[in-house]
Amino acid sequence: MVLGVGVVGCGSQGLAHIERFLKDGRVRLLAVCDIDEAKAKEAAKRFNVEYYTTYEKFLEHPNLDIVSIVTPNYMHASQTVAALNAGKHVLCEKPMALTVEDCDRMIETSEKTGRLLAVGFQLRFKDVFQKTRGLIRELNEPMNAYVLRLSPNPYDLNLEWRRRKSLMGGLILSMNCHEIDMLRWLLGEIEYVKADLKTMLYRNLIDYEDNAWLVLGFRRGLTATLGSSMTAHTSIYEYTIICRNGTIKLHPWENKILVFQEHTSKTIVMDKDDPLQKEISCFIDSVEEGKLKQPLASGVDGRAATAVIEAARESSEKGGLAVKSRRFES
Ligand SMILES: NC(=O)c1ccc[n+]([C@@H]2O[C@H](COP(=O)([O-])OP(=O)(O)OC[C@H]3O[C@@H](n4cnc5c(N)ncnc54)[C@H](O)[C@@H]3O)[C@@H](O)[C@H]2O)c1
Repeated sequence: MVLGVGVVGCGSQGLAHIERFLKDGRVRLLAVCDIDEAKAKEAAKRFNVEYYTTYEKFLEHPNLDIVSIVTPNYMHASQTVAALNAGKHVLCEKPMALTVEDCDRMIETSEKTGRLLAVGFQLRFKDVFQKTRGLIRELNEPMNAYVLRLSPNPYDLNLEWRRRKSLMGGLILSMNCHEIDMLRWLLGEIEYVKADLKTMLYRNLIDYEDNAWLVLGFRRGLTATLGSSMTAHTSIYEYTIICRNGTIKLHPWENKILVFQEHTSKTIVMDKDDPLQKEISCFIDSVEEGKLKQPLASGVDGRAATAVIEAARESSEKGGLAVKSRRFES
């Protein structure tokens, strides 16, 4: 039986999802939904599917098995819960939700309905990150990590949801949930956070940080620092991971990894890839097999990133004190 897919949110990322579902070829795109009728109509015409401007009506479509949620961050929780309750499997874009309570509701609903819930941490599917994960094991015992993600403002600040922390979650949630998830995936559970969040340049436009430093303490004892900025004049995205037997320097956007050891060094350059395609194909595999397939991020992973960011906000409010990240009781 061919799985039926619906995509909610026909912005740039929603269109990227649609293209990947179509390219996979194993599913049938049946419907799109957007509150902006012009966008919904245009996508429907382009991809020859039905369109809806009301999410409830979209969910009533009789043949949807999968719903991809690609709306502004503040809609993720309620739309995911509604889709799961309507019997759909959900791929929810990152960040999973703005609060840990919302993440808990999403996870509980997935468990109650028996429907799959995955979170769109697509960097896990990028070859250079998968290679780095293997290198960390080979080089033995990571001891410290440094991540920089600096760029000019990447957001369209004409959109209200991109200006308000209560709708977007701020820079450290909307952008750096990727790095938090990646560091967890590479290095294990995060125990505590110290943070310094500042709004330096866009004070008149946004009510969240445009520059941030996070210090992350891991259960296994090592520390990572993460610097983030949306006020730089160039883009820098790099990871340095110091392990006992070598140091890895990763440039994800250049698909390049440098490995330094005592008397040698090497450069690994990988082919350009499409992590979103691999993520979406892995989600389709998961629905066909009835369980989430690695390295897809689960609701628990999405929740962990939101929990670390909540702790970072609390730390910054307390002047940089270490704050423990919230976990499940069990
Ligand atoms: N994984 C990634 O690397 C990645 C990259 C880009 C965006 N994203 C995520 O994708 C999501 C969308 O981002 P975008 O850049 O496409 O945003 P966007 O603002 O361009 O598009 C969002 C769309 O959702 C529509 N919308 C708003 N409220 C809605 C509602 N209640 N019901 C239906 N439609 C609604 C808007 O009209 C708009 O067309 C965000 O959560 C963002 O964080 C993830």
